[in-house]
Amino acid sequence: MKDPMTDLIPAWTADQKAAFRKAPLTFAHKMVETGLFEDEALAALLDRYPAELYDINLFDFDADGQMHMRTGVRGRLPGAEVLAGIKEGRVWVQLRRVEQHYPELGRAIHAAFDGISAQSPGFKAIQLNGQLILSAPQAKVPFHADAPGVVLFHMRGRKRLWVYPMDEQHMPQVGMENIALKQTTEDLPYRRDWDQNAIVCELQPGQALTWPLHAPHRVENVEGFNVSLSVDYQTWGTRITNGAFYANGILRRRGLPVAAMSKTPMAARAALWAAHLGMKRMGLVEDRIANLKRSFELGETPAA
Ligand SMILES: [Fe+2]
Repeated sequence: MKDPMTDLIPAWTADQKAAFRKAPLTFAHKMVETGLFEDEALAALLDRYPAELYDINLFDFDADGQMHMRTGVRGRLPGAEVLAGIKEGRVWVQLRRVEQHYPELGRAIHAAFDGISAQSPGFKAIQLNGQLILSAPQAKVPFHADAPGVVLFHMRGRKRLWVYPMDEQHMPQVGMENIALKQTTEDLPYRRDWDQNAIVCELQPGQALTWPLHAPHRVENVEGFNVSLSVDYQTWGTRITNGAFYANGILRRRGLPVAAMSKTPMAARAALWAAHLGMKRMGLVEDRIANLKRSFELGETPAA
C-alpha cells in the first residue's frame, strides 16, 4: 500500500513557483488523505492534548445579537462534546505545537515542507510550528500580521481569506516593529474599504495558502465545521528580517533614524539582526504580551 505521508504536495506550475513568497499562492495538498482530521481522530486528540497548549474560546451573544468572546482552558468535557460544541458554533479551539504533540501530524508537516522545498529548491525551513484550528461555520479572524512565515493547510469546511498588499498603508513598518518587539498583539488598524485592495482566496479542503512574509490578512469561515492547520515557519531569511525589525524598533524608540525595510538589503538586515541579539540580552523592552496574558488568565476560570 502507498504510504499516505509521501507526495503530499503535487508538482507546482511555473506560475505557482514564481509566486511563492512573492504573492498570495494557493496550491494543492494531500494531507486530508492521511485520515488525521476525521472526527474520531480529533476527539481522541482533544481528550489527550496538554492543557497548556489547548486554547478554547467561547462565543456568547447578548440581547442585541453582539458577539462576545471568552477565552478559557479545557475543563472536563470529553473531546467528542467539545467537537459538537464547535459544530454548533459556540466554541473554537486551537491546539498549539501540534508538530510535537500530534506526532503523526508532525511527520505529515515535515513531509509537506519537504514537498514545498522540492518545488522551490532555495527554500529551507529551519523551524516549523503547527497550530490545529477547529472552528465554527461563522468564525472570523480579524485583520492582523504574523511575524513568521505561514502556510495554511485547509482540511474541512470552507473559509475565505483576504490578503492585503505589503505597503506602508496596509502594513506600516512601525506596526511590524511593535509585533517584533511583542509590544502589541498582532492586530493592526484596519479599514473595510481596504478589502478592494486585497486578493481574496476561498479555500476548499485539500488546498493550502501562503503569502509573502508579514502580509496582513483576515479570515472568515464560509461554510461548515472548519479544520485548518496553520504552520509557522522560519528560514534564515525570515529570522534575520524579524531581528532587523526588532533592532529598528529599539533604534526608533531612541530617536535614531530607521531605513525602510524594503530598501534594506539582506547584508544590512543581517547586521541589524546581530545587533538585536545583544539588545535582547540587555532586555531593553519589556515583553508586554506575556504580562497581558498572565493578567487575563488570572481572572478566568476554566470555561468548558
Ligand atoms: Fe495569521
